[in-house]
Amino acid sequence: MSLETQGTGCPFGFGAQAGTDTGAAPAGAGHAPSSAPAATHGATHHGYEPFQMKNPFPAYAALRAEEPVMYDERIDLFVVTRYDIKAVFDDWETFSSGNAQAPVRKRGPQATQIMNEGGFTAYSGLSARIHPEHTRIRGIVQKAFTPRRFKVLEPFIRQNVADRLDAMIARGQDTATHHGEIVKDLAYEVPTITILTPLGEDLAKLDDYKRWSDSRAAMTWGDLSDEEQIPHAHNLVEYWQACLALVAKAHAEGGDNLIADLVTAQKDGAEISDHEIASVAYSLLFAGHETTTTLISNALHLLAADAAVWAQLVEDPKKIPGAIDEVLRYSGSA
Ligand code: HEM
Repeated sequence: MSLETQGTGCPFGFGAQAGTDTGAAPAGAGHAPSSAPAATHGATHHGYEPFQMKNPFPAYAALRAEEPVMYDERIDLFVVTRYDIKAVFDDWETFSSGNAQAPVRKRGPQATQIMNEGGFTAYSGLSARIHPEHTRIRGIVQKAFTPRRFKVLEPFIRQNVADRLDAMIARGQDTATHHGEIVKDLAYEVPTITILTPLGEDLAKLDDYKRWSDSRAAMTWGDLSDEEQIPHAHNLVEYWQACLALVAKAHAEGGDNLIADLVTAQKDGAEISDHEIASVAYSLLFAGHETTTTLISNALHLLAADAAVWAQLVEDPKKIPGAIDEVLRYSGSA
């Protein structure tokens, strides 16, 4: 989150700093830390570690209780842990999402060179674009991203899940292999197949997209050294080239898929460039599966640790949608 409004005081009301030169603190890559507010949490940050995702919940609880809006100078970002976040999301003019895809840890020189030489120019399809660009692209994408295009996938998703669960059960009956692995057997592939299909991408590339998505997450929100970034930089180049290739293929061959629909819209006069269509592909080929793989994994991980809740859901499956909402709230995957 970055604060675009400067000089009017910190929208969170950072006490004495609001309205002064050190108030209206910017957050996010590219902002000068010199204008950030002084940290109020000492060296401990209430136990919060920006790159530690194993068990962040005690730190979140401490933040909610002690400093629900914390400026973290280590990453130059605000960490907002109470429902105040709703006000932030609602007020896009003050709290820009322009840095939503900016690397939290600065990109190193080797990775930058690899990505420049590989023609990597992707940034964000939608989430980090701001009005009027966001409004323009979203309006065009929304016309192609119809419920109908996704509704047709439903029976295919159900069948895919049922087949995998049957295979897990069959393996469970075999005493030699006598276990299932929810991430490997279900959560990894099902969401990925589900998004590759409407985008007209070859399912044989599933493992590539997983590898590229892992790299995208690591390069955006991870804490990689300059050396560690190198293989991921190569992956991002491959990923972006695949998105460009999808657009080129839609131009050459058409097709019954979302990318081809966007190319058709462009030919019919919609104001969207090939680069923007490739950027939408770049977004969806990450957002459309990474989040859901993580949601399934987080949900099962939480439920496995709570037999009483699990029993309630087995007894009354109508409670499942509410339980999923609660997982999204408690252990969000995005
Ligand atoms: C558990 C699943 C998911 C979660 C938790 C999730 C969460 C989010 C969040 C928090 C945002 C940012 C919203 C904002 O900036 O205001 C977002 C944006 C977006 N998500 Fe998801 N998402 C999920 C699944 C998906 C799927 C399956 C797709 C595609 C099929 C998708 C496509 C998008 C797109 C295109 C945007 C950008 C929207 C815009 O800026 O206009 N997401 N998602």
